[in-house]
Amino acid sequence: MKKHLVVLTGAGVSAESGFATFRDTGGLWEQYDVNDVASIEGWYRNRSLVLDFYNQRRAQLKDAKPNAAHEAIAGLESTYNVDVITQNVDNLHERAGSTRVLHLHGELTKMRPENGVYDKTGSEAEVIDVAYRPIMLGDLAPNGSQLRPHIVFFGEAVPKIEKAIDLVEKADILLIVGSSLQVYPAAGLYRYAPSGCPIYVIDPKPVPLSDPRVHFIQDVATKGMAAFIEQLKAL
Ligand code: OAD
Repeated sequence: MKKHLVVLTGAGVSAESGFATFRDTGGLWEQYDVNDVASIEGWYRNRSLVLDFYNQRRAQLKDAKPNAAHEAIAGLESTYNVDVITQNVDNLHERAGSTRVLHLHGELTKMRPENGVYDKTGSEAEVIDVAYRPIMLGDLAPNGSQLRPHIVFFGEAVPKIEKAIDLVEKADILLIVGSSLQVYPAAGLYRYAPSGCPIYVIDPKPVPLSDPRVHFIQDVATKGMAAFIEQLKAL
């Protein structure tokens, strides 16, 4: 029986693929007002601005490549039963070969109708894969409403949090990579880890987690993953 390794990732895991994080110096939330481009109120205020923000991110994703941290996480599937829970909207875990990836905050390459079933039922039946194409005001879904990013905006529920909690509750080992743990409910997920479950945190900056189960690896994701894999051998 393989042990169950649950990996929670944030923007830091994709930093070495060239993606700015959100809250670091020079991060996205220094360049943009989060309320304008990533909130539900911002969407209703100025849809073009929000579409443009995500069009830029999507175009950047087309040319990006998974880094050694994404690859190391995917490689662990040969020895562990791995579930990735990511706050990232990129697809770099999948492109590195991870087979079970839960996107808590949505996906850049997908859109859905503004007035569709998802917001009422959580059903992804109307979600459309647009790959890396830009989407404009006036691009409509088959149900006739404007296409919107398949992204969890601030002010919206996080429909996949229950599934994520279920996974963390069944973890033998929890690994957190590159998240400032500022945004709830994702930031509280580690609390659901079973009492004997070791928690590893990889981040170049100290992350405020005061839990006796935490082992801190203070490094960037690529080097931190190499150190984590060494530490796994001793478990
Ligand atoms: P943040 O930008 O808040 O945090 C990024 C973390 O990555 C910080 O703790 C950095 O120290 C760390 N970091 C920076 N470079 C790194 C590297 N090379 N290797 C490893 N870690 C590195 O990003 P998140 O915690 O992911 O949500 O943010 C959570 C959510 O807030 C995002 O999903 C997004 C954002 O607003 C939405 O837009 C809905």
